[in-house]
Amino acid sequence: MEGAFMAEPSERSSAVRSFPVAAVTVVLALTLGLLGGLVWYVLDSYRYFKTTHHCFLQVRELTGRIVHLDEILTMSARMAATTGDLRWEERYRHHEPQLDAAIKEMYVLGEQFALQAKTAKTDKANANLVAMESRAFDLVRRGQLKDAASVLSGAEYEKQKELYRLGIEETTAAINERLRRDYESQNQKVRIAVVSVVVAAPLLVFSWVVVIRLARRYNAERRKIEKEREQGVERLRKALGATIRAIAHLVETRDPCTAGHQKRVSDLARSIATEMGLESGRIEGLRIAGMIHNLGKIVVPAEILSKPTKLTDIEFSLIRNHVQAGYDILKDTEFPWPVARMVFEHHERADGSGYPEKISGREVLMESKILTVADVVEAMASHRPYRPGLGLAAALDEIAKNKGGLYEPDVVDACLKLFSEKGYRMAY
Ligand SMILES: [Fe+2]
Repeated sequence: MEGAFMAEPSERSSAVRSFPVAAVTVVLALTLGLLGGLVWYVLDSYRYFKTTHHCFLQVRELTGRIVHLDEILTMSARMAATTGDLRWEERYRHHEPQLDAAIKEMYVLGEQFALQAKTAKTDKANANLVAMESRAFDLVRRGQLKDAASVLSGAEYEKQKELYRLGIEETTAAINERLRRDYESQNQKVRIAVVSVVVAAPLLVFSWVVVIRLARRYNAERRKIEKEREQGVERLRKALGATIRAIAHLVETRDPCTAGHQKRVSDLARSIATEMGLESGRIEGLRIAGMIHNLGKIVVPAEILSKPTKLTDIEFSLIRNHVQAGYDILKDTEFPWPVARMVFEHHERADGSGYPEKISGREVLMESKILTVADVVEAMASHRPYRPGLGLAAALDEIAKNKGGLYEPDVVDACLKLFSEKGYRMAY
């Protein structure tokens, strides 16, 4: 049996490797970092390509619109100069704001790419062209068609047209070039992201495999230690049970007339406590206390314990001393439950008429009150050297009659219910 006490689970458990928190944290952080970076790249690329595509379409549409409107304006001015019909000026004036708006749009777009210098060139050439075309319309209104035509076909007009065209082309080309460079840069980022994922993914998978294996090993070791601990506790429990039985046997060898009394009291007390819904740990403590509650009788002379005639006062006081003797023997034993106190209090009564302290109510442990009722029922129902057994009915009648007086009402109710409804019987 000593071997059972030599197993020390708590000492062994210190040798268990700890959970690989650091490894899990690092791998988790790397995984989240990679996934986060990937998501960011995807979103950023999507946003970029969407913006770039929109910008590219906008430049193409804007360029086409400007060229088209410019052709309308030039043609309107020249037709007015050729035919003298001022309705062409109306057409001109109708489209001119549209061209201004389109050039302004181009200017705003150019600002995004820091191309104000190039768009300003177009803007300036356009202003010059508009001024020359307005002068041509003035000449048409005065009937000087030839002069108007010469303004619109002169070298200065052509020069401004060329500047205007160059401004548009340069701006468009610069924007497209900037878009192309940005596109390349973005492509480079995507390539880096893809390479990073391709390189990092197998490493991460490998890391996760290692971490999972570490975690599994940790769990297996924990389970093993837990099992050893449970086995150790079970061995200790059995050893304690055997020790308690040995003590009970020792008491009953001195008082053979009450053989089995403590076991039956223990069993009844446990059943009452279970019926009352006491927590399992308390019930176990009560069971142990019941098994040895008359331990103190080993100090009472055997002839008094088995005396078949009426006891004298001195003999009674010697017997009554067994609760103090039992307490003294057990008080330094470190049970997880107040076993010594239960032994000390098992002859107290709920109304304070018991012994040795004549305490009552909350001063007495509920376990002690249960032990009291179980002790009374078993003792009355069984034979004693000085009297025959009074029977179970008389015993139950005694506790029912004194419920709320000598005995705790809840305990009495639970005990009566056990016998009357649950079919409980004491084992003789
Ligand atoms: Fe007793």
